[in-house]
Amino acid sequence: MDKLVIEGSRRLEGTVTISGAKNACLPILAAALLSDEKSVIRNVPSLKDIATMLKIFKNLDVKVHQDGGTITIEPKGYKKHMAPYELVSTMRASICVLGPLLAKQRYAEVSFPGGCVIGARPIDLHLKGLKSLGAKIKVEKGYIIADGKNLRGGNVYLGGHFGSSVLATANTMMAATLVKGVTVIENAACEPEVVDLATFLMKMGAKIKDHTTHRIIIEGVTRLHGAEHAVIPDRIEAGTYTIASAITKGDITLKNAKPEHLVAVIDRLTEAGLSITKVPNGFRVRYVKKLKPLDVTALPYPGFPTDLQAQVMSLMTVTDGISIITEKIYPERFIHISELNRMGADIQLEGASAIVKGVKALSGAPVMASDLRASAALVLAGLAAKGRTDVHRIYHLDRGYEKLEEKLTKLGGKVWREKEK
Ligand code: EPZ
Repeated sequence: MDKLVIEGSRRLEGTVTISGAKNACLPILAAALLSDEKSVIRNVPSLKDIATMLKIFKNLDVKVHQDGGTITIEPKGYKKHMAPYELVSTMRASICVLGPLLAKQRYAEVSFPGGCVIGARPIDLHLKGLKSLGAKIKVEKGYIIADGKNLRGGNVYLGGHFGSSVLATANTMMAATLVKGVTVIENAACEPEVVDLATFLMKMGAKIKDHTTHRIIIEGVTRLHGAEHAVIPDRIEAGTYTIASAITKGDITLKNAKPEHLVAVIDRLTEAGLSITKVPNGFRVRYVKKLKPLDVTALPYPGFPTDLQAQVMSLMTVTDGISIITEKIYPERFIHISELNRMGADIQLEGASAIVKGVKALSGAPVMASDLRASAALVLAGLAAKGRTDVHRIYHLDRGYEKLEEKLTKLGGKVWREKEK
């Protein structure tokens, strides 16, 4: 296994190109299974999670061809309907093949995705969505077995304890495109990744209305055709580089980034004192004055994204004053706190809120990455810290950040990969 080594305290400056969004790409690839025809997906990031999804496709006898950032999917004549434990257990997002397989094959067997270090991640809303379309669902030997003989449109409210669900909305919307009748999803997630999925489905011939709102209406059609689509830029990667600029007192221009997908993040960081200005096809992030502490609450879109909660916490550890960071989506998503404290941060957890007292400086240390975004937070802390930080278990980063060390090095960071001894 590899680790990432960072020599900290270097100012980052220059231009970074933001990759395609992993969390838009995964359901879009799954949606291609709804057709018999070829689909071509562009701006696909080169990431382990994408490779896992393609393994699921090969396992279904669906032909895939990858040429750099372009993936061609040829589902013609595929008859299989199973996503096995060995693959689903390595990536929770594999659950988003459930809706397409059920709608296309009228039967699906998908391994139950496991728990996860960011807290309990149930799938009740996925099942509720599909049952509302008439699916008969049982769980047997760790598999979700879904029978879709009697699928038809239905109305469903997809709100849970923590608000809407991104992938449950995606699964229900994908399945509804191919069933007879009209489906209304109430309290649908409206993250940009859901909107991008709907855009791709409409290119395939799906009839979807109000897909940017919390009430999505889908009128089923009898078949979908193949389509071409370029995935939106990754707003979480863009947010991570925004924070990298702030934490290193830098000046980074983000190319191929959409500020309109990061309104809450830009609002909070501008409030803290960061300069963020639009440039053609992106935005520029400059540290121009001492930053102020922040109150940040992770909420469903358009609120501050939970996938940037850990990274903004790293920034607040070196921001003078007291910041309060509250998590309303995954109340246990705080494993990074103990690792940041090992680097000299002063963070205390009170329920689902972290109280962060800014310190003068962090000091480099060996730290352990627990999940994808926590890993990114540790890399950011390492960039700001005095001395050397070794981030262990970086396979999480390889799941979600394309060419991370290459991009950071180009910006002037001293970051490299080493084999664990
Ligand atoms: C997506 O996960 C993202 N993953 C996550 O990013 C992201 O953190 C999350 O949305 C929230 O924005 C992908 O898109 C592949 P949810 P998803 O269903 O869809 C609860 C990353 O690092 N819930 O929107 O699985 C759930 O426990 C990953 O890239 C239920 O109660 O998340 C949470 O509290 C991590 N029942 C809330 O809803 C359900 O059936 C929102 O989760 C489903 C979810």
